[in-house]
Amino acid sequence: MTQQPQFNLPDVVQWNDGKLFLVDQTRLPQELVLEHQSDTKTLFASIHALKVRGAPAIGLAGAFGAVVAAQALQGVPQGEFLTQLQEQADYLDSSRPTAVNLGWALRRMMAKAKSLAGASNLQILQALEQEAIQIKDEDIASCRAIGEFGKGLVKEGMGVMTICNAGHLAVSRLGTALAPLYLAHLDGVKFTVYASETRPLLQGARLTSWELTRAGIKTKLMTDNMAGHLMKLGRAQLVITGADRIAANGDSANKIGTYSLAVLAKHHGIPFYIAAPFSTIDMNTAHGDQIVIEQRASHEVTGFRGTPSAPEGMEVENPAFDVTPAELISGIITEKGIMRAPYLTSLQQASNR
Ligand code: MRU
Repeated sequence: MTQQPQFNLPDVVQWNDGKLFLVDQTRLPQELVLEHQSDTKTLFASIHALKVRGAPAIGLAGAFGAVVAAQALQGVPQGEFLTQLQEQADYLDSSRPTAVNLGWALRRMMAKAKSLAGASNLQILQALEQEAIQIKDEDIASCRAIGEFGKGLVKEGMGVMTICNAGHLAVSRLGTALAPLYLAHLDGVKFTVYASETRPLLQGARLTSWELTRAGIKTKLMTDNMAGHLMKLGRAQLVITGADRIAANGDSANKIGTYSLAVLAKHHGIPFYIAAPFSTIDMNTAHGDQIVIEQRASHEVTGFRGTPSAPEGMEVENPAFDVTPAELISGIITEKGIMRAPYLTSLQQASNR
């Protein structure tokens, strides 16, 4: 039997008896609450508020969201079903712009629905449910493969830096950036993870440090502005992060602060890896400048959970992501192996496999 890390966490996106549930990640680590998503409006708000977050998990939520939409549309005339379903898919896709997995999953769901044009509304609904379940199964398998390909990078005694959360809570089990760490840990390798807290929404502090310590992996939390100093002290020998969208040339969008980590890693001669499934690779985006960066509300920077930390009315910048240029990336760990530069060639070849 395949070994799993022992952290006793539920899947963050669950489909139970024809209903969609999400772990509300805004309440972690204090409370572990599953929330029912009864309609697409509720789901849109949940994605936008980061109750579900992390590129693959958003994609999965979108896929099951299409099923929820198809359920609600059972009563419409057959001739209008696909048009109205497409409207709902477009609506969900507009909830967050940067992670490509959302649009990818919704396009795949709509392609499935359209391939059945002429079938009854119920038949399309049943096929969509199967498709979403399959996306989840593939996601779990991809994470496992990413872990297998990446675990050899994690050596005894290393310090490994990461940012945001690209673990179990961002995907289906194991995660992407954390998958090599979980599998190395299961193999008995001892290392220390430096989890960057990830201002402003603290995914590193609230989520990554929580899930890693639950799995028994030695983890130290640092504020984002400590990375350079700790690298200079020799604490880190490897950086692995996730990605929200990888352009055809390898430029990779991920949580704000990733670019700074990559620049610092380059300066200190530390390998910097991205870990992501092929569903995060967008061959239709030529390079990173074309990636739309989500801008979020100012209150996320001027306070946390309603407690102000800045003068009232302060003007802020709040880009949720940044783009790390391909030349700073040592490799992209995928379910098809570790991709190396030139990425235009390696990603193209592997995406045809
Ligand atoms: O704003 P978030 O929390 O959705 O940002 C998530 C990230 O940046 C992750 O690193 C990325 O989506 C990869 S998750 C496997």
